[in-house]
Amino acid sequence: MFLENCWYVAARGEDIGRHLTPRKLLKRNVVLYRLENGAVAALDDACPHRRLPLSKGQLLGDQIECGYHGLQFDCSGRCVAAPTQSRIPPNAVVKSYPTIERWGFVWIWMGERDRADESHLPDIPNYSSPDWGITEGGTLNIRCNYLWLTDNLLDPSHVAWVHKTSFAAPGADKTELELRTFDDGLIVSRWIKNQPVPPYYASLVKFQGKCDRLQHYEVRLPSTCINRSIFTPAGSGGQEDSEHVDQAYVMISYNFMTPVDDDNSAYYWFQHYNTDPDNKAVAKQLNQGAIAAFNEDREILEAVHVGMRDQLTPNINLGLDAGAVRFRELMKRSIAAEQKD
Ligand code: FES
Ligand SMILES: [Fe+2]
Repeated sequence: MFLENCWYVAARGEDIGRHLTPRKLLKRNVVLYRLENGAVAALDDACPHRRLPLSKGQLLGDQIECGYHGLQFDCSGRCVAAPTQSRIPPNAVVKSYPTIERWGFVWIWMGERDRADESHLPDIPNYSSPDWGITEGGTLNIRCNYLWLTDNLLDPSHVAWVHKTSFAAPGADKTELELRTFDDGLIVSRWIKNQPVPPYYASLVKFQGKCDRLQHYEVRLPSTCINRSIFTPAGSGGQEDSEHVDQAYVMISYNFMTPVDDDNSAYYWFQHYNTDPDNKAVAKQLNQGAIAAFNEDREILEAVHVGMRDQLTPNINLGLDAGAVRFRELMKRSIAAEQKD
């Protein structure tokens, strides 16, 4: 079961055009397409007659024509033509879903239509600031349950082993993790003091020598993961407002997980940073680094999914799992509350 009354990323904006795009989300098949006015429509991807996926039909103006017997549906899912008979069957209806396009993504509300609320979209501060750079981002389809991804994005410790050539500084770090909880998520964070700048960031920070580094791993319901890094010259970090320290380098990785089904997830992301807003080479370098690093996560998490699914003996938890365990509990409670409503 999944949390339904919330926004999920259904696609990147550029993936949706004047054609029919099938997507699976929360175990449901949906067809997406762009209307003539530029908005995005989303319908269940099944004709109510013989369940042929509507994505196998064709787009006629703003309507989908089923590819089997020609029933036509408008963007609200209402049948508007039945060419094989004189009367439109009153029960020929397809479920439609609210969508919004924001931050380069198409968001979909899979739950009750009248609870869809734009204010529940995640916020991206500084998105319109000319001083901030942004990467193109990417999409990965990962063969694991989305909660392995949220676990991973609440876990700064794995970086030392999984991302040796990118995000990690040399050696493991025992600096204690701080856990803050909220009604809709939590933050695991720590400042690591006086360490070398990790390879991924070395050519990006604007100061020489060692750094103080914030690892801020935040996950909000349903599965928005914000990974905020701050690097300051060694000795000047460690405070709430350290991003305003002279020469502080701030990078925020926005990660949006969409459950496809119990065994598959779509992972969408981009990076946002407080330097080099117009430097395309920097944006490209950052994006390629992120793709390489997230593929390192992918390899681990797909194997973890199989290992945990097929386990014959009990597994254990470590101290580093505190955030992940709390988030899973919150998710379980939130799904149970939604089912009761
Ligand atoms: S299956 Fe769609 S009209 Fe028959
Ligand atoms: Fe990772």
